[in-house]
Amino acid sequence: MNEEDAENEKEQEEEQEPVTAQSEMELNKQKYQFIEDLPGVGPATALKLKELGYHTVESLAMATSRELDPVGVSEKKAFQIIEAARSAIGISFIRADELFKMRKNVLRLSTGSKALDKVVDGGLETQTITEFYGEYGSGKSQMCHQLCVNVQLPPERGGLNGGALYVDTENTFRLERIVQMSKFLDLDPETVVKNIIYAEAYTSDHQMFLLENADEIIKKNNIKLIIVDSLTAHFRSEYLGREMLATRQQKLNKHMHKLIALARAFNAVAVVTNQVMAKPDQFFGDAIHPIGGNIVGHTSHTRIYLRKAPHGPIRIARLVSSPYLPEGEEILKVTENGIEDVSEEEKAEKASKSRR
Ligand SMILES: Nc1ncnc2c1ncn2[C@@H]1O[C@H](COP(=O)(O)OP(=O)(O)OP(=O)(O)O)[C@@H](O)[C@H]1O
Ligand SMILES: [Mg+2]
Repeated sequence: MNEEDAENEKEQEEEQEPVTAQSEMELNKQKYQFIEDLPGVGPATALKLKELGYHTVESLAMATSRELDPVGVSEKKAFQIIEAARSAIGISFIRADELFKMRKNVLRLSTGSKALDKVVDGGLETQTITEFYGEYGSGKSQMCHQLCVNVQLPPERGGLNGGALYVDTENTFRLERIVQMSKFLDLDPETVVKNIIYAEAYTSDHQMFLLENADEIIKKNNIKLIIVDSLTAHFRSEYLGREMLATRQQKLNKHMHKLIALARAFNAVAVVTNQVMAKPDQFFGDAIHPIGGNIVGHTSHTRIYLRKAPHGPIRIARLVSSPYLPEGEEILKVTENGIEDVSEEEKAEKASKSRR
């Protein structure tokens, strides 16, 4: 930092007190559009913040003062910057009534199956992470594709009028599927495709890097759905053995927290997918567990287990954990059109077949 910058920053710091009062929120919203507008952020600090992945006021609002350590500002100043950013986007985590206000802004995204939507109280919610786990072919990626299309629908059709960001780690994203699903919903496939920002992650570090630098893209493209498909595949193949487990979990934890921060900052739905493994269980035979252990379990707010019915397109979706909903199970199907409900006739037919 040259002297002039340091000087400017000092001046700004002295001139402007941190703003937290609720009455000033609206004002701050207009005043602090860019991180450079925040009190205490001079050009040098702005540059360092951007290097750390904070390009927007929204993402800065979700940072902790410790995360700003590498910027080289005092803890007090870091706290003031974050406070100002929070006030600019109209949230503060300090008071419980503010938290309540934030919860009131939660929006819901339809899965394409009314039955499953009902199990999750109206659809997947913004500001939190939903995890779909299950074995290969259980429909996790199909669900992700469907959500990319659904998010573009207006709210009255279960959407959020927004775009999607798709972080693909296994190269399984298929535009053809998006086109098929769009047509079925009477949407113009060309427009739908344009509203999906696609990023292929080549390694776990690359995957982390993509999210760490996604804030500006999310803001510019009105992204309302952030997908990481698959969350764990790279981590699992790169960090082998017991001695690497701690590092892997630490990185996964950081990655998940970045995802939560983005989902909150932009009031977006976050979805991750996860494979399963069979763990020998002393009493009940082999039990199926999602990968990633406690870290993934605790940071995914809603976990949905997908499994295949013996034949055909039917899948069973089970809500395994949610902070406030009871467990529940429903069936849906994966077809050419996407994720669909199973009709009463189909259910009856299936039931009579299984009785035979
Ligand atoms: N066009 C289509 N029409 C009908 N069903 C399809 C179509 N495309 C895919 N499917 C169904 O979706 C399945 C693939 O599901 P998906 O790719 O979502 O699995 P996954 O859970 O992501 O698996 P993995 O763990 O390997 O990533 C196929 O086996 C098929 O049953
Ligand atoms: Mg998949």
